[in-house]
Amino acid sequence: MTSTTAFWLAGRQATGEDTFDVTSPWDGRLVGRVAVPTDAQVEEAVAAAHAVLDDFAATPAHVRAAALDHVSRRLVERTEEIAQLITAENGKPIKWARGEVGRAVSVFRFAAEEARRFNGGEAQRLDTDAGGQGRLALTRRFPKGVVLGIAPFNFPLNLCAHKIAPAIAAGAPIILKPAPATPLSGLIIGELLAETDLPAGSWSILPVANDKMPALVQDERLPVISFTGSEKVGYAIMDSVPRKHCTLELGGNGAAVVLGDYSSDADLDWAATRIATFSNYQGGQSCISVQRVIADASVYDRLLPRIVAAVEAQVTGDPADATTDVGPLVSEDAAKRVESWVQEAVDAGASLLAGGKRDGASYAPTVLTDVPAEVTISCEEVFGPVLTVQKADGEAEAFAAANDSKYGLQAGVFTHDLQVAFRAHRALEVGGVVIGDVPSYRADQMPYGGAKQSGVGREGVKFAMDDYTYERVLVLTGLAL
Ligand code: SIN
Repeated sequence: MTSTTAFWLAGRQATGEDTFDVTSPWDGRLVGRVAVPTDAQVEEAVAAAHAVLDDFAATPAHVRAAALDHVSRRLVERTEEIAQLITAENGKPIKWARGEVGRAVSVFRFAAEEARRFNGGEAQRLDTDAGGQGRLALTRRFPKGVVLGIAPFNFPLNLCAHKIAPAIAAGAPIILKPAPATPLSGLIIGELLAETDLPAGSWSILPVANDKMPALVQDERLPVISFTGSEKVGYAIMDSVPRKHCTLELGGNGAAVVLGDYSSDADLDWAATRIATFSNYQGGQSCISVQRVIADASVYDRLLPRIVAAVEAQVTGDPADATTDVGPLVSEDAAKRVESWVQEAVDAGASLLAGGKRDGASYAPTVLTDVPAEVTISCEEVFGPVLTVQKADGEAEAFAAANDSKYGLQAGVFTHDLQVAFRAHRALEVGGVVIGDVPSYRADQMPYGGAKQSGVGREGVKFAMDDYTYERVLVLTGLAL
């Protein structure tokens, strides 16, 4: 019999009246049964977080840092078990799941380091004008309030870590809602936090049903919302609470631009391998996976067959197998949606060079060319293992093609030319430009977030801490400066 996994209410384990099942996208087996908090329990968690606000902000940095270091160390110790859980509930191949645990280890470690550095205070002399004689401004940052974190299914551990760790580092209480499809990995963080001395109420992990979320989003005791997920849901949240602080990490249709100077066999092999790997990692279910390749006309004919070969070499199958590169999508419905978008493109005249087949929740790594601009896959985030390849004539046309998207999360530019790198940084309307690699590169301490419809605000531990807090200035008077 499957036991019920409790949720975390104000730092302690609890169960409610209902449960829901978590199943494997690969074989449909039952992975776990999760307790759902009642409305009264959700209220209790919010009230506790609100009540602890001032005390938590005043918690010494060493206490918060020690807790964060503890979680980081325990994630190392439990890596294999947690990686297997991620694979089971999400369908992510085990090698990527291990990588995800490693990233969460770093996120908590960075947060511990930032907790020690944060809020040293910045002094500014004010006697630069006569009215400020003898005065000094001291600026420190304070939490805006309790954070409501809403995490997605695609990185069920690390994107929970990206919401929780900066909140603790900044002394802001947090209520985290993991994704309904993948709550177990996020709930594990609760087990590790419960081993620390953080004040009760400073954190809760609640698998609240999606239809209960509007009430939480509206709750005035939760003035900061940090959401990662779809563009549609993200903007619906923000539009429903225009006076709240919302960080939105939304979609993308990441472009990898391969320019004419990236032309040796070794260059093109590297670009093709990276493109094939990162259009398919996690079944393409990453906001920064490669969806569009824009190749200079001078390298296009040599690059395209390499990409097709590298995509076809991706090993598909059981995500628990260490050799598998690409497992299932999160659900059969998700795979059917991807299938319909590819079919629409092919019906409109696109050429299918690899893949294009669905088997249950699995979709074969796919390459399309000659894709008309108006079809869905040219305009929206596919969130599946599908790549389109197009030709551009020179750098300006390639950058314009990369910008021809409502999204702007990250872009990759394959070039050796430093001048081009700086021009790309200026020209590309995205939150991050990666030179010599795919848009999918993310180091967890970097600022991460979008331009255009890819969202607002930034994650990356220090940057999320800035987002969760505001500057408050203290003016001291009558000083001998
Ligand atoms: C995302 O899908 O937005 C997260 C990507 C990552 O953390 O690598």
